Amino acid sequence: MPATEAINVLDAYLDRTRDQRLTDYVEVLRIPSISTLPEHSNDCRRAAEFVAGRARAAGLEHVEIADTGGHPVVYADWLHAGDAPTILVYGHYDVQPVDPLGLWVKPPFDPRVEHGRIYARGAADDKSHVMMHIQAAEAWMATRGSLPINLRYVFEGEEESGSAHLDAWLEANRAKLSANLAVVSDTGFFNGNLPAITVGLRGIMFAQIDVAGPDIDVHSGTFGGTLRNPATALAHVIAGLHDAEGRIAVAGFYDDVRPLTRLERAEMARLPFSDAEYMAGLGVDALWGEGGYTTLERRWARPTLDVNGIWSGFTGVGAKTIIPAQAHAKISCRLVPDQEPGRIFRAIRDHVLRVAPPGVRVDLTLIHGGRPLLTSIDHPAVRVAATCLREVFGDEPLYIREGGSIPVAASFDSVLGLPVVLLGFTPPDDNEHAPNESMRLDNYEGGLRTVVRYWEALAASLVR
Ligand code: BES
Ligand code: ZN
Repeated sequence: MPATEAINVLDAYLDRTRDQRLTDYVEVLRIPSISTLPEHSNDCRRAAEFVAGRARAAGLEHVEIADTGGHPVVYADWLHAGDAPTILVYGHYDVQPVDPLGLWVKPPFDPRVEHGRIYARGAADDKSHVMMHIQAAEAWMATRGSLPINLRYVFEGEEESGSAHLDAWLEANRAKLSANLAVVSDTGFFNGNLPAITVGLRGIMFAQIDVAGPDIDVHSGTFGGTLRNPATALAHVIAGLHDAEGRIAVAGFYDDVRPLTRLERAEMARLPFSDAEYMAGLGVDALWGEGGYTTLERRWARPTLDVNGIWSGFTGVGAKTIIPAQAHAKISCRLVPDQEPGRIFRAIRDHVLRVAPPGVRVDLTLIHGGRPLLTSIDHPAVRVAATCLREVFGDEPLYIREGGSIPVAASFDSVLGLPVVLLGFTPPDDNEHAPNESMRLDNYEGGLRTVVRYWEALAASLVR
């Protein structure tokens, strides 16, 4: 069958199976697979079992719920395409926590379809892509009885909590993961429904600061004015982490930052983006950040340091007059090439311990880290992806970076030595990590059709 005819048959199959496919997608969204919360570890396993079951039903082989020491990886493959390339496909079946629950219009694990979208935690990030990949394989198998390329699937269960066990699992399974290319599906579009290919991700370093003062909370009248207050000490340390120009005031922090090239800056400046719309979308009346860089440059290509959570003392209703015994903060840095999470942690730890005032004990713990990644815009597999996106979505894709992180994407490059294509279809207004997360159903269907075409186009390409 000539290529275009095969695609027509596949498209017709996808049209016909739409309702059943949606039902399946809804079903996986009902499982609260929140990887960071221990009370949901059984749900993570249930989600893994669901994904494995669907992979088997699609006709994939060697389907396995592989133990990693944490939430399992679902592995599956189909390797009968002879000397066609072998692609390692990645997605994650775990999701972020749902708080603040009160802001959800409907419960986060009770999916609803409205305004051409499906609303649920994980609807976009990343169960959409997991289901798309399984359904794309299923469509090929059901209509043709085979796939045009060799595929290995890795569906992770710990992406949202830092992928702590994945690098070791990749190392241990190096042989069974041999491939020509990794396709990581956990990103999305940038502007409305214009397709986009992501070519850069930031890395991350996540840590906790613990400050300890007196052995127990003490009366702030009896003891006030004589003791260093841990909350004040923590505030002092945190306030000193940035200078007045928005730069991170930690010695060595910028040492390994690769400067943006003139061309990279020019390309970013050409993208459809307005500070005013960005502010309106966020409900803020001013932007802030490192001087000398545009908003997109700061989001995608400059490192950051943020406080993600901070707590100490009495936070209930009313008043309680104490000096708290302890204060804590969760902080994280987004990293850019060629920053290394371990090195950044040590630089921040050394800085914080040096500036911490006497009278309190300060401790820093590294919680997780992941390296940044830049992919090559002119790799043949990226060119082929661009053609497929244009065929399905009707526009030439934009080339964007993301400020977020997918630690395993850098590991595919650094641990397995694979070129990486970041191919994802979520809309920019999908509320990832926030209340009322949603996925546009036309992006879902378009993404599925893009993947279906991509496998065939890659088989015919120079990628080997
Ligand atoms: N899907 C996101 C990564 C992403 C974010 C892609 C924004 C495109 C736009 C991913 O699931 C994610 O959120 N990763 C975490 C990783 C962290 C917990 C190690 C992140 O970036 O916070
Ligand atoms: Zn994700």
